[in-house]
Amino acid sequence: MKKVTVILSLVFILFSCQKKSVLELNPEHFVTSIEGKETALYTLKNENGLVAQFTNYGARLVALWVPDAKGHFQDVTWGFSTIDDYLNSTDIYCGPVVGRYGNRINRGRFVLNDTLFQLTLNDNGNHLHGGTGGFESKVWDAEMVKVGGKDVLKMSYFSEDGEEGYPGNLTIEVYYSLTADNALRIEYSAATDAPTIINPTSHAYFNLAGTSDVTILEHVLKINASTFTPTDEGLIPTGEIRSVEGTPLDFREATPIGKRINESYQALIFGKGYDHNFILDKKKDELGEAAVISSPQTGIEMTVITDQPALQFYSGNFMDGSVSGKNDDVHNFRTGFALEAQNYPDAPNHSHFPSAVLNPGETYTQTTIYKFSVVQ
Ligand code: GAL
Repeated sequence: MKKVTVILSLVFILFSCQKKSVLELNPEHFVTSIEGKETALYTLKNENGLVAQFTNYGARLVALWVPDAKGHFQDVTWGFSTIDDYLNSTDIYCGPVVGRYGNRINRGRFVLNDTLFQLTLNDNGNHLHGGTGGFESKVWDAEMVKVGGKDVLKMSYFSEDGEEGYPGNLTIEVYYSLTADNALRIEYSAATDAPTIINPTSHAYFNLAGTSDVTILEHVLKINASTFTPTDEGLIPTGEIRSVEGTPLDFREATPIGKRINESYQALIFGKGYDHNFILDKKKDELGEAAVISSPQTGIEMTVITDQPALQFYSGNFMDGSVSGKNDDVHNFRTGFALEAQNYPDAPNHSHFPSAVLNPGETYTQTTIYKFSVVQ
């Protein structure tokens, strides 16, 4: 009897240890060639055991292991375990950098210096996330570089003049790093040889429960935003800047996502849930706290810090069960959320929104940080 108990305990310990440890993805499963460019898997680690994995196909975050309240490591981002899964996925926005312009541009049109530009239309007659061949579909150049002795993953892409209808030859770099205080830091830099518009953002889906078997509705969210930009049915901003006061979009006090998501508020009906641009209360260019979100299941808390003026909170309303992810997870309704630091959607068509224009000789920069801790 005793022997059996000892063996059972050993099996239990082994099993729980396995659950605790990080399961790194196999780099061999990310090697392929797309339009003559090689894809690969890249891994960053920090001194506390955090592991982040990326592929240069779409400058994409693939896996992100962070400790929960019990010290077990959980993968908190949506992703796949092979490059083929990404190529076959019906949701092309799992973890990439999107652009040139994140979110929507009305009818894909904008006027810059008296010239009308027509972008590709890929979302009900509008332009979404850079078009049909946006950054998420490109193989970026990637290299590990050292900055102050630390590993930084540098991804670069050259977007030719006219790509998806955008003017100007654009060079863009994205720098991913893991910091000692358990943050994933993303820095962007871009330059152009002709006036253009730009608004790249990270389109990582998170589920801080560490599994995609559960919805994100129990997550508790705080967004430091007093106003948002209401949209029409096609999710194009009307131009209004509306207070969140008294609406289900008031997340200034931490509130479970599911608490008001089904209320019959017009903006929630158009979004099929939360899919809104929140204007951050911090000063426009200041690097400040945008949102804090946690999972009651794991106690994992994520703080979003950015120098961008706004944050798109998307509650996974278009996830429809049609995609399988790591461990054959099904991409079920609202099993991931995105908090995308950005300029306002359709800013090029609203003069009172922050400018998205980038001119030759200027450098576009962005810093966005996803910092992990546990609820105290
Ligand atoms: C979000 C956007 C949603 C949807 C999603 C991708 O950024 O706000 O409307 O397009 O990306 O499925």
